[in-house]
This record gives sequence, C-alpha cells and structure tokens, in this order.
Amino acid sequence: MSPVRFGGETIAAGHAAFRDLIEDDIEAVVRYWYDSGDDYLAFLGIDKARLGSEDDTRARFRRALRTGDPDQRSMAFAITLDDTFVGYTLLNRYGADSNFSHWHLTNPLARKTGISTALYPHRIAMYCEACDMNRLTHQTRPRNIGVNRMLDKFVPIAETVWVENPDGIAGAGEFNHRYVTRAYVPKLFRILDKLRSR
Ligand SMILES: CC(C)(COP(=O)(O)OP(=O)(O)OC[C@H]1O[C@@H](n2cnc3c(N)ncnc32)[C@H](O)[C@@H]1OP(=O)(O)O)[C@@H](O)C(=O)NCCC(=O)NCCS
Repeated sequence: MSPVRFGGETIAAGHAAFRDLIEDDIEAVVRYWYDSGDDYLAFLGIDKARLGSEDDTRARFRRALRTGDPDQRSMAFAITLDDTFVGYTLLNRYGADSNFSHWHLTNPLARKTGISTALYPHRIAMYCEACDMNRLTHQTRPRNIGVNRMLDKFVPIAETVWVENPDGIAGAGEFNHRYVTRAYVPKLFRILDKLRSR
C-alpha cells in the first residue's frame, strides 16, 4: 500500500501533518528508543524487558506499517513538520471500544512548539479514518506534565489509577486515563478553533 497522507495544521514552526509510517522511518524510531538514555526511559516509565532489543523494536514497527487490512492490530503513523519526520504515533487496537495510542516526538526540537496540540483533533480523526475505532483510552503518567497539559485542553482525566499491565512497553505504575470517542471528533476541532483564536 502506498503511504497515505493525512490532514494537519500550519503552526508557527511549519506545517504539521501525518502520513503512514514507512520502512525508511523505522531506524529513526529505533535510534530514539536506544539513544535517548536510561534517564529518559525511566522518566517515561519504560520497562526495558518489554522494550526488548533493537531488533524486537524493528519487528514491532514493521508489524505496524499499514497494510490496508482494516483489522490490523497495530498501526503506525509518522508525525511530520514540513514533510520532515519528527515523531510517530502508534495505535494499538483490541476492539472498537478498546484502543490505546502512543505518541512520541522523537526529535526534541519539535517539542513544545504546539505541534501535539495542533494535531490532536487530526490525530483522533485519523485513527477513526484508518479503522473502526469507536473509543480510545489515553493512558499517561501523571508526572509527564507535557502530555497531560496537551490533553487537558481537549479531554478531562476520567480516573487516576494503578495499572499493573499498561499498554505497550510501559511498566506498572500510576496512570491518568481519559476516554475519547468517535462522536467527539467535531467537538475536538471546535476546541482547537477556540484555542487558535486566543
Ligand atoms: C510530551 C509531548 C507529547 C508534548 O507535546 P508537545 O507538542 O511538546 O506539546 P505542545 O507544544 O502542544 O504543548 C502543550 C502544552 O504543554 C506544555 N508542555 C509541553 N511539554 C512540556 C514539558 N516538557 N514540561 C512542561 N510543559 C510542557 C506546553 O508549554 C503547552 O503548555 P500551555 O498549556 O501553556 O500551552 C511531546 O513533547 C513528546 O512527544 N515528548 C516525548 C515523548 C512523550 O513524552 N510522549 C508521551 C508519552 S505518554
């Protein structure tokens, strides 16, 4: 399947958008996970056993390259700024009402530019376009101020709970859960409009 491009937003830093992750992006993802250092992994709360080896990570992302199968369990998308890869998002699907997503600006220069805020409604719309997702759970560490401040603009925290077996490669710990549904997408764009006009 040739890579699909998805809508985005122009922000001060450039044009932020999405496309399907491709094989050529995988090495940047691998370098992010293995070159960022132990302190960074500890801050994110990554379980190194779950992260596994570089080859495990390559294989995990190869499985998530979109094939066109609407039932694909894991789907990866590149986050781009002026067409340059700056990060990725991974959607893990367990059922229409059970979906978890992961979001990483792998290029530190892209962080705190407003890109995650500007793309948030587009991100949820993209997941809904790519599959039958009805409800998504955001599972974030309370100490990760950046991601929580970004999500606070759109979706309130539903609960803060101890999770023994979080989604993806994270270790057990306390997490904020927020839920967003397909029906909520138009509201997300209205919120973004309001943020823009501030
Ligand atoms: C954390 C992350 C998702 C935030 O996205 P971002 O694009 O940098 O955030 P934005 O620029 O849209 O900023 C949203 C708000 O959070 C604030 N913010 C962002 N990063 C912050 C940080 N590290 N510390 C404090 N505040 C932060 C911004 O100043 C902005 O605040 P405002 O409410 O005053 O407008 C992004 O930096 C990232 O991918 N980091 C690395 C991986 C990661 O932590 N992923 C999330 C795992 S759950």
